[in-house]
Amino acid sequence: MSEKIQRDWFDKYMVPCFSPAPFIPVKAAGSRVWDQSGKEYIDLAGGIAVNSLGHAQPALVAALTEQASKLWHIGNGYTNEPVLRLAKRLVESTFADKVFFCNSGAEANEAALKLARKYAHDHHGAHKHEIIAFKNSFHGRTLFTVTVGGQPKYSADYAPLPAGITHLPYNDLQAVENHISDKTCAIIVEPVVGEGGVIPADPAFLQGLRTLCDKFNATLIFDEVQTGAGRTGMLYAYQTYGVEPDLLTSAKGLGGGFPIGAMLAKEAWAQAFQPGTHGTTFGGNPLAATVAEQVLSLLDEPLLQGVRERHDEMMGRLTELNARYGVFSALRGKGLLIGAELAEPWRGKAKALTNLAAEEGLIALIAGPDVLRFAPALDISHRDLDEAFARLARAVARFV
Ligand SMILES: Cc1ncc(COP(=O)(O)O)c(C=O)c1O
Repeated sequence: MSEKIQRDWFDKYMVPCFSPAPFIPVKAAGSRVWDQSGKEYIDLAGGIAVNSLGHAQPALVAALTEQASKLWHIGNGYTNEPVLRLAKRLVESTFADKVFFCNSGAEANEAALKLARKYAHDHHGAHKHEIIAFKNSFHGRTLFTVTVGGQPKYSADYAPLPAGITHLPYNDLQAVENHISDKTCAIIVEPVVGEGGVIPADPAFLQGLRTLCDKFNATLIFDEVQTGAGRTGMLYAYQTYGVEPDLLTSAKGLGGGFPIGAMLAKEAWAQAFQPGTHGTTFGGNPLAATVAEQVLSLLDEPLLQGVRERHDEMMGRLTELNARYGVFSALRGKGLLIGAELAEPWRGKAKALTNLAAEEGLIALIAGPDVLRFAPALDISHRDLDEAFARLARAVARFV
């Protein structure tokens, strides 16, 4: 008999930069997950806003399986059919003229930030290199993206950090007006702050950033790694806001669970990356591109309409739960990216609540120490939502 795989192997054999739950998931379908002991969980985390169409979605499984017997990898010395189909689809359904593929959100942001710097150097000169980002934002874990992210706890240990980056308060247009100058090369912003607490941008804030970028010839980058691929009820959140960026980054839900990242660019920006200026081995891999194309083809208008309806349903259920227990001080979000901020007596205890939820058979996320975060499959069934909220209510009853 083969050796039983134990959770403590993580502590023994893996670099301890995560602290995974005590159980090991082994199987999943739709929004249900089972662990080694056969215990069932409802998944309201979606692998951190990744499994946009749930687990083991039959059309994704079929597409991946078919491609797996054709061509796995060929490298960027050649192109391939799935990546060409995916690029065409992304260009035809967004503001972008060109797409660059990579493997993660951090890499997509790294590409966007490097491209913004290069574009400014090429068109205006080396003095134009400053980047404006926002406090509490999150853009990934490479040295550049962790520095641009507005959470010093993630970057301070890695000093010296890349220079020329300023963090301003989110949703504070006046602060940006006061700071921006001819030296500003880019502003990078999450249309809804994800990890940092699920905070939607004010429409006037994003519109104001667009106007300021136009005035100062700066590149506007939307980090849609978490908000993209249907999460907010439109294909990308910029469409919800009616404000177009120059560059947009996408990852997470785009691959529905298969790793892929993408940077979408307007033509003038795309031209700053010529052969040899930037690259990746795995980006544009046929397996990832096949799955992402299938994800996009399933994100049609009825599915997106369903996201908007489920938003109302989840907000209603959270409001009801709060009427009973008074645990939340704020409920916010867009589409199926929803945050519930814990009220004063329970601040700092979001992780304790998700631990109780897991005991009750519910997987949920946190967004910082004070906020419970939900990012379920975009097509989660009403039955699964019913059951999820029954389990959450049991967890909250034990929590308060
Ligand atoms: C808004 C945002 N940008 C970037 C990233 C980094 O993506 P990845 O972990 O795929 O590198 C994340 C991940 O949580 C994110 O939420």
